[in-house]
Amino acid sequence: MPRLPIENASPTSLTMNGQTLTAFAGCNYLGLGAHPRVVRALATAAMRMGISTTASRETTGNTLVHEALEAELAHFMGQEAAILSAEGYTANFMALQALAFTHRIAIIDAQAHRSIRHAAIAAGMQVFEYEHLNIESAAWLCKQYADQGVVIMTDSVFAADGAIAPLPQLLDCLPANRGVLLVDDCHGLCVLGQCGRGSVSHFGLNDARIVVTTTLAKGMGCYGGAVLGTHKFIQHVQDNAWVYRSATPVPPPMAEAVREAIRMLREDTTLVDNLRRNIGLMRQSLFLLGLQLPPEGVPIFTFAISPEERMQRVHEMLMEQGVFAPLISYPGGPAERYFRVVVNAAHTSEQIDTLCRLLAQAMDATRLEGTPRRMPGLEVKMGEGKGGVRVAVMG
Ligand SMILES: Cc1ncc(COP(=O)(O)O)c(C=O)c1O
Repeated sequence: MPRLPIENASPTSLTMNGQTLTAFAGCNYLGLGAHPRVVRALATAAMRMGISTTASRETTGNTLVHEALEAELAHFMGQEAAILSAEGYTANFMALQALAFTHRIAIIDAQAHRSIRHAAIAAGMQVFEYEHLNIESAAWLCKQYADQGVVIMTDSVFAADGAIAPLPQLLDCLPANRGVLLVDDCHGLCVLGQCGRGSVSHFGLNDARIVVTTTLAKGMGCYGGAVLGTHKFIQHVQDNAWVYRSATPVPPPMAEAVREAIRMLREDTTLVDNLRRNIGLMRQSLFLLGLQLPPEGVPIFTFAISPEERMQRVHEMLMEQGVFAPLISYPGGPAERYFRVVVNAAHTSEQIDTLCRLLAQAMDATRLEGTPRRMPGLEVKMGEGKGGVRVAVMG
């Protein structure tokens, strides 16, 4: 798929080919990526500190800003400690480089983000997939390998279908000894939980077997990533994860920008409240159109309209009327190609109304229906997954 020729962007608009469109795209869930306070924090710190440490934190590149952000992020997300990574992608590599010392088995949701699978393979773990969201499938695999140290790995919120992983039930699947649940909270942070504290807060969990990884580039609107967990585990990551030790960290001005974003979320719930109000508006309208809805509280609406030429026509009709509803091809969605419409805290109710009205008109004009999602069955057997990975399949 060709990349978009974006000339300019705000949380609610995109300018392409000279045309500015109201946009429902990206993962800037709270609009923090363009918030004047966040941008000012970055600019002020850049003037004060420059834009790069130019060295690993374990040589000459550590700053008090990094350490302060780690403490504040851990506190915000309800974890004992955090360690920053260059991005969300490498956060999973960091976590697994540390976990692989004691855990040899990776049991991964089949629709989990690529970075999780790549990180587990790179760490030399034996990798198995369980059927998307299916607890019986995960439990069955855990039972087979209970004595080898098991890490169950999942996204908290899945970017391509908006599903929320059943974290409490996945914890219950872990073997009594040497079991860890790694939660990639890239799409849960700033979206789920009290004040947007993420998926662990959403489920009210407090469990030392949980390791959280996240990006700072989506809900936080900035850049970078982090691994969070117990003090002991985070120290282990610091001492042993070479993807951390041998790399330049998040630029200090960016770390200051994230600190400002967290400060805003702690001071006042307006942004999270606005996001939840807008999710509610979208849910009402898309429900009336008969489209599949994500779980409550998730701002990612993915749906396909068949046949594909009609879906393309709906997309174009919206564009002609000044609204950009992304049509994407990305693994894990309801079809090969599908709409991924994201509402954020900065959208107005008028913008949401306009999107839904134009969508209804376009669907009407082309006489379309949403396609239902696949429902998993119950019987477990082993099959061949991507890249030779063994997978537990529900039949
Ligand atoms: C679930 C998930 N994990 C990890 C990443 C990688 O994060 P980053 O973009 O910060 O590298 C993404 C980004 O798309 C993601 O959606």
